[in-house]
Amino acid sequence: MTRDNLNAPLRIAVVIGSVREPRMAGPLAAWLEHELTRIDWLDLDLIDLAAVPLPMHEMQPGGAATSPIAGRLADADGFVFLVPEYNHSFPAPVKNAIDWHFTEWAYKPVAFVAYGASGGIRAVEQLRTVFPELRATTVRESVLLPMAWEHLDAGGRFVPPPGTVEALHTMMTELRTWARALRPVRAESRAESWAGDGAAEPAGRA
Ligand SMILES: Cc1cc2nc3c(=O)[nH]c(=O)nc-3n(C[C@H](O)[C@H](O)[C@H](O)COP(=O)(O)O)c2cc1C
Repeated sequence: MTRDNLNAPLRIAVVIGSVREPRMAGPLAAWLEHELTRIDWLDLDLIDLAAVPLPMHEMQPGGAATSPIAGRLADADGFVFLVPEYNHSFPAPVKNAIDWHFTEWAYKPVAFVAYGASGGIRAVEQLRTVFPELRATTVRESVLLPMAWEHLDAGGRFVPPPGTVEALHTMMTELRTWARALRPVRAESRAESWAGDGAAEPAGRA
């Protein structure tokens, strides 16, 4: 892998983790999209789980070929989950989307913009226990937005409290470091054939 390849733009998928309506995720996703499209080292893909049918009864170990977002997740070099806290955890559709896929997450960094009454920290910490099983790594920095609904302007747009944009850029810089560092690992793992090619449960899963 050449230095040019290593420094090529990174494709970052933002996964919107609330599927209800109305939802706070709307103004937060708009704000996040606005901020991330201004970063020159990344190509953004916004994946709204509310628009993605992933029926639980069709789930297979190792992922299913019919997933409408498998290709987009596979193309991503890293992820930002926009995730609310529900009952001291993350919403069920987020776990469903994670479980529907397997190799798509491998050797990629995952960052979190979380929100809730207490900023969504418990959703983040629980997701940190999930991703290693998918061979994904979570980045240390995160953006926590307590009581985000108190930061909407008259037009319903999210106006970030002081320090938020700086925290986002700090997190994104760490995401870039990991996404670049893992690039050769992803290239190597793609070159190998995965046991079962996602159709069967890979050996050695606990
Ligand atoms: C079912 C449910 C459970 C919730 N539980 C928590 C919670 O445990 N801790 C917290 O800080 N906020 C909790 N909240 C508040 C949400 O984090 C907050 O309403 C958030 O804006 C929801 O995001 P959404 O509107 O994009 O779905 C809960 C909200 C819902 C709907």
